[in-house]
Amino acid sequence: MKNQTPRHTSAIHTSVRHSSDKILTGDRATGPLHIGHFVGSLQQRVILQEQYQQTILVADMQGLTDNGYHPEKVSSNILNVVADYLCVGIDPLKTTICLQSAIPALAELTMYYANLVSVARLQRNPTVKSEIANKSFGQSIPAGFLTYPISQAADITAFNGTLIPVGEDQLPLLEQTNEIVRKINAIAGENILSECRALLSKVPRLPGADGKNKMSKSMHNSLLLSASEKDISRVVKAMYTDPKHININDAGQVEGNVVFTYLDAFHTDCEYVENLKRQYRAGGLGDGKTKKILEECLQDLLRPMRERRLVLMNDKAQLLEILKQGTARSQEEANQVLHRVKGAFGLNLF
Ligand code: TRP
Repeated sequence: MKNQTPRHTSAIHTSVRHSSDKILTGDRATGPLHIGHFVGSLQQRVILQEQYQQTILVADMQGLTDNGYHPEKVSSNILNVVADYLCVGIDPLKTTICLQSAIPALAELTMYYANLVSVARLQRNPTVKSEIANKSFGQSIPAGFLTYPISQAADITAFNGTLIPVGEDQLPLLEQTNEIVRKINAIAGENILSECRALLSKVPRLPGADGKNKMSKSMHNSLLLSASEKDISRVVKAMYTDPKHININDAGQVEGNVVFTYLDAFHTDCEYVENLKRQYRAGGLGDGKTKKILEECLQDLLRPMRERRLVLMNDKAQLLEILKQGTARSQEEANQVLHRVKGAFGLNLF
């Protein structure tokens, strides 16, 4: 069979933007953010906030969908995530940063939408399906977990999000959101909600430093935005390269070599990286040298973030205030959408 793009990927992924687009995105607050989040989405958000209205949701309720019995994993990370946003340059004066659990309209919308989505459809969602396979729920899949795509549809529609900067793994969730949007519009008899499109970054998914798995703290293969100088050095030194490239003069393989994947993602001089690749392929360029170049590049990128983050985490009251103000600002818009959706069901009695 030919290498086909899944249907949802081409249908929902866009590079076309309109000035009227509204940006909405979110992150599960289950841990501090890492450099995969940075290239996958955070970096784009910093640029997007200059041109668009942008709302970012700290998705604490979604974080609970697989941590209901360990809520501290979520609650202890909320301000960490806010600090991560600010340290990369997301500006709370330009971007509304808000807390999912503090916006009641989101939970209400979820309950209305849930009546239009079958359990079978949720079980077929490829993202949910693979997450369920990877987590050890056994026979006890939390209802909240299975239905989180509905809550994510509430997040997106509550803020009239039309352009969603996310990684490729989120495409099935956006597809499912649009199905709900179409159903609500059909019930309402007019377009009260807008469909959304994904804005994918050039680097959709950064592999972990081991080259095998996606980045995760438990695998020790990730670099947090708050990584220390030592962490960066350690992770880069242990990074997966080409196992057949033993002597410097051997011809090396660039594909699947994590050092080059990261250089492509983070180094600002593409031509220089292309040159390194040519040398590496021809033989004569050692892994020690390429790792040194990558380490320097990551140290330069993360140093200012780490320093800003340290200052931010020293004033938690200020972080909390930023989140509180953003949340307050976002209630009105979400309430208006809820009012329209309730109206579609004929339930705005008083
Ligand atoms: N599911 C997203 C993630 O795992 C987080 C998220 C919650 C989100 N609500 C959202 C993303 C709304 C985009 C839009 O990272």
